[in-house]
Amino acid sequence: MRLADKVAIVTGGGSGMGRAIAVEFARQGAAVVVADINYDAASDTVAQLKAMSARALPVKVDVTKRAETQSLCEQTLEAFGRVDVLVNNAGARCLKSFLDHTEEDWHRMIDINLTGHFFCAQAVVPQMLKQGKGKIINLASIAGHVGRPDRVAYCAAKTGVLGLTRALAMDLRGKGICVTAISPGSIETPMNSAAATDANVDWGGETVVGRWGRPEEVAYAAVFLASDESDYITGSEIEVEGGWLIGRARDGEL
Ligand SMILES: NC(=O)c1ccc[n+]([C@@H]2O[C@H](COP(=O)([O-])OP(=O)(O)OC[C@H]3O[C@@H](n4cnc5c(N)ncnc54)[C@H](O)[C@@H]3O)[C@@H](O)[C@H]2O)c1
Repeated sequence: MRLADKVAIVTGGGSGMGRAIAVEFARQGAAVVVADINYDAASDTVAQLKAMSARALPVKVDVTKRAETQSLCEQTLEAFGRVDVLVNNAGARCLKSFLDHTEEDWHRMIDINLTGHFFCAQAVVPQMLKQGKGKIINLASIAGHVGRPDRVAYCAAKTGVLGLTRALAMDLRGKGICVTAISPGSIETPMNSAAATDANVDWGGETVVGRWGRPEEVAYAAVFLASDESDYITGSEIEVEGGWLIGRARDGEL
């Protein structure tokens, strides 16, 4: 098993990709702390992991609150004694035009999608430094690479996640801690439930592969970045987007 004896925290682990990552980590032998603002959802994921005979703990956390992220790390250490992997996955998306974004919308997008990653990293890095090794995996997005319509604050936050990933990797150089990002494309999760049933949205058609991605396809990349197999990868990202970023040309286009 590729994550045997490792202890991982997965934020936003109560839903979508976070849940899929928690399941794949457990399948690979990790103990998993499922951290989510929605405790019931985190508990449902943990029940799934325990049914696989994995060690798992649900923790209620709002990643936008620094004290709660510190407590998340403390609860992880109390339960499992170490922390090897942090997956900063918790996120949310505000879909509206630029001028309709309120001050609250802006701060909420930056706080959940970017500041939360920063706070959680600050909470776990002291322990990873003691251990001399660690992996921090930040969920970014194709929205961190290109301008996408009606999500200006979300795009700004996700672009920030890529900058945070590179800068944190530099700050932790030579310490055995790798910091990486995953940029998913259009993945079938509750975040996209409205778009998935909207006949006007053809995100699958915008990819090279020709379909939406599945949450577990992101989880497989996370397993690799969490494992010792990726010890020579830091400050960079894996795009799990079916070729979306290169593939938006249509047959017959000049
Ligand atoms: N679904 C996609 O197509 C897609 C594409 C690119 C990037 N992403 C990113 O991937 C990550 C996971 O997305 P998903 O589609 O699985 O989302 P999702 O909506 O299914 O799950 C997000 C989870 O984060 C939790 N959460 C929200 N705010 C929180 C907070 N303040 N503190 C703690 N937990 C909180 C929610 O309760 C939920 O369980 C997000 O960072 C998202 O921005 C998603």
